[in-house]
Amino acid sequence: MKAMKLYSDVHRIYNNLAAMGLGPDDRLTVAHLTPFDQYHYEGTDAVDLALDHLGLHPGEALLDIGSGIGGPARYIADKTGVRVTALELQPDLDAVARDLTARCGLAASVTHVCGNILNGAPGDPFDGIISMLCMLHIPDKPRLFAAARAALKPGRAMYIEDFARARPLSAAETASLAEKVQAVDLPTSAEYRAHLQAAGFTQITLQDVTAEWRQFSAGRVKAARATRPAQVALHGESTVAGLEDFYEAVDALWQGGALTGLRIVAR
Ligand SMILES: C[S@@+](CC[C@H](N)C(=O)[O-])C[C@H]1O[C@@H](n2cnc3c(N)ncnc32)[C@H](O)[C@@H]1O
Repeated sequence: MKAMKLYSDVHRIYNNLAAMGLGPDDRLTVAHLTPFDQYHYEGTDAVDLALDHLGLHPGEALLDIGSGIGGPARYIADKTGVRVTALELQPDLDAVARDLTARCGLAASVTHVCGNILNGAPGDPFDGIISMLCMLHIPDKPRLFAAARAALKPGRAMYIEDFARARPLSAAETASLAEKVQAVDLPTSAEYRAHLQAAGFTQITLQDVTAEWRQFSAGRVKAARATRPAQVALHGESTVAGLEDFYEAVDALWQGGALTGLRIVAR
């Protein structure tokens, strides 16, 4: 996973907080963190869209599959009063997530679990599932969606944001996806739907957001270049070069027409 440079040096968020005058012992708010803790496209606007589709009520339980450093989980718990279980594979991301959640005073409403969704979700079935740009890392879609279905109460919704393959890929594109994005064997949109149906999901909508995400990706590369000196001063050359390399590799895939962006709701 660490070959994907978004996941190197995840402690860099502490540099951003220090630049805002917030040290390790300071209490935090979700608003302090959201510019830095959303590891998907379009920040909290995308999480708000997910909430519209999930139809959750305060006190209900949501599973976040691949929760990163906990950005979406904290935002949802704070905004809605929903109890979130944040399942994250990588221990260093999970540790940063726990620390930030505790410092926001949200430890009672966000439960962090370090684990692999392919081994099943923790606890009882949930009132909803959210998964933002995680599933592209998991080629075994039958096992993934079987685990997701088992974790979801009947009739409730799973909201996914994910990549699909737009067309047959060149060898260079396949290699770039495998190494720099840790994404092997992406399905097409039609294959994605078929996997969900095979796992027992019956109401499935797939929205193609390729144009939007292509634009987001281009903007991210541009912003990284424009702010490079300040970013290097904050995080150091190696972290910045790694992020740039990742942003540029993904952007080449978007601008070359290799990827489809999907917003999926499945019940
Ligand atoms: C692009 S990040 C997005 C994080 C978070 N959803 C967000 O939007 O901020 C995808 C995350 O999925 C996690 N992940 C990948 N495979 C996983 C698995 N099998 N089980 C749990 N988490 C996984 C990765 O470690 C990574 O932190």
